[in-house]
Amino acid sequence: MKNTPNKNDGKLLMKAIRQHEFGSPEVLHYEEAPIPGLEQGEVRIRVHAIGVNPPDWYLRDGYKMLPPEWQPAVSFPIILGTDISGVVEAVADDTKGFSVGDEVYSMVRFPSYGESKAYAEYVTVPASQVALKPVSIDHVGAAAVPMSLLTAWQFMIEVGHDEPNPLQPYKHEPVPLDGKTVLVNGAGGGVGHFVVQLAKWKGARVIAVASGKQETLVRNLGADEFIDYTRITAEDVVHDIDLVIDSVGGPTTGRFLRTLKRGGALFPIFPLGFSGTEEAERLGITVSETQVRSNGRQLAELARLIDDGTIRVVIDSTFPLADARKAHERAALGHIQGKIVLTVA
Ligand SMILES: NC(=O)c1ccc[n+]([C@@H]2O[C@H](COP(=O)([O-])OP(=O)(O)OC[C@H]3O[C@@H](n4cnc5c(N)ncnc54)[C@H](OP(=O)(O)O)[C@@H]3O)[C@@H](O)[C@H]2O)c1
Repeated sequence: MKNTPNKNDGKLLMKAIRQHEFGSPEVLHYEEAPIPGLEQGEVRIRVHAIGVNPPDWYLRDGYKMLPPEWQPAVSFPIILGTDISGVVEAVADDTKGFSVGDEVYSMVRFPSYGESKAYAEYVTVPASQVALKPVSIDHVGAAAVPMSLLTAWQFMIEVGHDEPNPLQPYKHEPVPLDGKTVLVNGAGGGVGHFVVQLAKWKGARVIAVASGKQETLVRNLGADEFIDYTRITAEDVVHDIDLVIDSVGGPTTGRFLRTLKRGGALFPIFPLGFSGTEEAERLGITVSETQVRSNGRQLAELARLIDDGTIRVVIDSTFPLADARKAHERAALGHIQGKIVLTVA
């Protein structure tokens, strides 16, 4: 191990957000926790910023939307969070590719229930899940990227792994985008604002659906048309779409089937509750989803797209790590524009 600041791995203390029970944002406490010990294959990162994602509040609350048999059994206290940007401060003996002092970002150990532990001053990560952060943006911007942009990328461009898909028996396959018409629902949110940009980059015409407050943002990100869902029901006015990427998803995602061409595809980013399989088969539409997975190689590729200006990162709001509770309260209000990020002093 190189340049390790503490000789008693796991015994020195850091500040972290921990919870000792499932529940509302009040269960989040800023307190001391052991600095995580470094395992083979890992780097330890001094965290500068942490991106906030829906799985953070799902886990905080015990994944109540899942059937009881799927709800995670965790050992309290747990530390939420997956997405970080920071500086490498230790590298395991067997680990190559990173050095102390590198500025990096990562989506840490996802999917896992409570093993990522990113709401903290230090986090350990398998080196294969780490990449040098984009140089053109700061740690706040970089921490906003991993889960949302990897999700958009793995749905639209490259799945990036051969693990079985927990959400369907067949492999998710991205579809060609050049010259196609893509409808993006939830276009101003964390995943949605990246989906809009990737679709434009790949040559698609983009119809963005969001609340009216998102119009300027998503048009600036490249959307060709905008539908304010608070005034107009998208499926009443659009048809012959090639691909719908529904970043809201859930039980209502099937309403988009009738907007699609025969041969088109519906990608619900949040697939639980979809019940239109027979209708999709009758209409000749592919419905497919995947679960985002950590991938350092893809993050390195995405850093290049951020640095060359192809992809912009939008920040909704920032909160100090100590105020993670307030960040979760902000998230619960909805209408997120881009990403919520925690900052670490
Ligand atoms: N499959 C995976 O591996 C994976 C990975 C990441 C995320 N997800 C899931 O994807 C979903 C989106 O995640 P996210 O991080 O993008 O969330 P987010 O940042 O909260 O974005 C959701 C967006 O949807 C918009 N919205 C809400 N209701 C809407 C409606 N009825 N019609 C159209 N837009 C609506 C919201 O703003 P406005 O209401 O102002 O438009 C918001 O911008 C979550 O359910 C998350 O769990 C899945």
